Amino acid sequence: MEQEKLTEVVHGKDVIVITRRSFFGALLAIGSAGMGAILAVPVLRFVLYPIYAKAAGTEWSDVGEMSEFGAGKAPLRKTITFTQRDGWREIVSAQSVYISRSADGQLEVLSAICPHLGCSVSWQQGQNEFVCPCHGGRFSPDGLHVFGPPPRSMDRLKTKVNGSKLQVHFEYFRSNVPNQEQIS
Ligand code: FES
Repeated sequence: MEQEKLTEVVHGKDVIVITRRSFFGALLAIGSAGMGAILAVPVLRFVLYPIYAKAAGTEWSDVGEMSEFGAGKAPLRKTITFTQRDGWREIVSAQSVYISRSADGQLEVLSAICPHLGCSVSWQQGQNEFVCPCHGGRFSPDGLHVFGPPPRSMDRLKTKVNGSKLQVHFEYFRSNVPNQEQIS
């Protein structure tokens, strides 16, 4: 069966004939390419997900009910859990924090990781201070550096109140530097 000619162009010796079939073939190819591009978006988002996820960092963790942390109480140790993403892997970690009060009575959450070389600081009720067992670093009840090699005070973490719960955003900070520098 003879194809219906959509147009015919004569240019020197060359004759270009575009039939209805080739026209619809071209349309189909363009449509397929467009559909392929649309379908590629979710694939690309999946492939690039680790980059976004790593940038997202950690999440808010529950510390406890606000009623547990009354004014005038000694620092209270709590273990929190949080999820970190490394590529497609999710890692659930646990860390200790202390709920304390600043000199002006503000609730604070302090990381128990010693800012010197990363040992775990513990609250000593008898001495009324935090003590690091590794090199004898000492801190006041509100986490201020009092004695020893730690180059700064205990690290303060971001907090918020969600309903009746105190929540913390746990972060790691660089060891043995004078300022609190976030590393994740
Ligand atoms: S690690 Fe705490 S004082 Fe050295």
